[in-house]
Amino acid sequence: MRRRRQILAAAVLPLLILALFFIVYVFFNIRQQSSHYYDYVMKADDDVYLRLKPLAMSLDSLPRHDLYYGFVIPCSSMNPFVEYMSGMGYLLSWDLVEWIASSRIPANDTVGPEDKLVGKWLNIGGKAKNRVSNKPAMYDYPGTNGRCSHELIPETIAVHRLKSWDQWLHVLEFFNVTAELEVSNLYHLE
Ligand SMILES: *[C@@H]1O[C@H](CO)[C@@H](O)[C@H](O)[C@H]1NC(C)=O
Ligand SMILES: *[C@@H]1O[C@H](CO)[C@@H](O)[C@H](O)[C@H]1NC(C)=O
Repeated sequence: MRRRRQILAAAVLPLLILALFFIVYVFFNIRQQSSHYYDYVMKADDDVYLRLKPLAMSLDSLPRHDLYYGFVIPCSSMNPFVEYMSGMGYLLSWDLVEWIASSRIPANDTVGPEDKLVGKWLNIGGKAKNRVSNKPAMYDYPGTNGRCSHELIPETIAVHRLKSWDQWLHVLEFFNVTAELEVSNLYHLE
């Protein structure tokens, strides 16, 4: 069953990612001509806590062109030019999104794990000359995934593998997100 789910995910996710980048590209390209301009698109899992301010600050000094940013696989690697960025959350500069939406390389290669394929597309296309793996600011929740995990740290950008409410609560409390919540009968924390 699990194997069948994995195969289904491998077959469907890359197409969804491709479709997502295409839609984002088409939709925002239209808006761009009027007022907005976006530098990046980021894909993140739904079991990730993302801290946008530290993320934005970390991007400040980086190139806004040909940029592929995230948490490089394998866990212990510090070299973003080998392998690919984990699907926990990776960011692409706008020009790379345009390229993915229009190149034949991704369209012709859509079976496999979505994050691995994005890295493969970029490598085959000779793209993403600027690559940043932001460790230790991005990581898996403590104790959940070997060397991809470490303790929560103040300079966090992303914590991945939050599978239970206890883990979410721990993370939200650590980053003081719950400190200012007022008492309400619409929610309870414990
Ligand atoms: C599509 O992918 C196949 C298998 O990876 C490859 O042999 C073929 O050359 C590719 N075609 C194009 C147009 O890139
Ligand atoms: C949360 O608040 C406490 C008390 O003000 C502070 O010492 C701590 O550094 C804060 N934690 C983070 C991650 O900002």
